[in-house]
Amino acid sequence: MSLQKILGQVPLIPVLAIRNPDHAVPLARALAEGGLTILEVTLRTPVALEALRLIREAMPDITLGVGTVLQPEDMDRAANAGASFAVSPGFTKRIADAGRYSGIPLLPGVATVSEMMLVRELGYRALKFFPAGPMGGPAALKAIAPVMPDLAFCPTGGVTTANLAEYLALPNVFCAGGSWVAPDALVQAQDWKAISDLARKAIAASGR
Ligand code: 3PG
Repeated sequence: MSLQKILGQVPLIPVLAIRNPDHAVPLARALAEGGLTILEVTLRTPVALEALRLIREAMPDITLGVGTVLQPEDMDRAANAGASFAVSPGFTKRIADAGRYSGIPLLPGVATVSEMMLVRELGYRALKFFPAGPMGGPAALKAIAPVMPDLAFCPTGGVTTANLAEYLALPNVFCAGGSWVAPDALVQAQDWKAISDLARKAIAASGR
């Protein structure tokens, strides 16, 4: 199955920055319990790879990705820890090449039309639109659709329950990403029930 098809099974991919490895599995369980079963663990904290490994071991059925990939080496390390896809906030030639030849598929980030054209030339059709809000939000993706109808996007950055449905209604959006379903305060308080509720609310707001 293509990465677009896999990620398109959910309306929202929680973007996680896990600071304490002890939180990794309960957080993943809370989100899955709320219906969000595809997660992105970002490499923004020193324990990210450990968190990936712990979730992978405890929840073999969940679809687990690695995010904030800034260099090709990150992809191999994350794949070894159990990630089955990778997300980069932007792309370089090296990362785009790694995404085509390494073991796990890559969702490369783009922000401008020229970047979309460049990464399209490199063979990609499913892209992360980041930072979606500051770069024009749903209106930007709507304007791009007729120009490059073969591209599809996962917008992240400024997506909320208030605009999720508007993004998902666009023909060139297959899912969205966002961190608001796992706010740091709730994670530190280990309020897993509140996080499951946020996941449920996101799904309800998605219109899917
Ligand atoms: C990402 O990397 O996708 C973003 O940091 C998520 O953006 P958000 O915090 O605005 O949801």
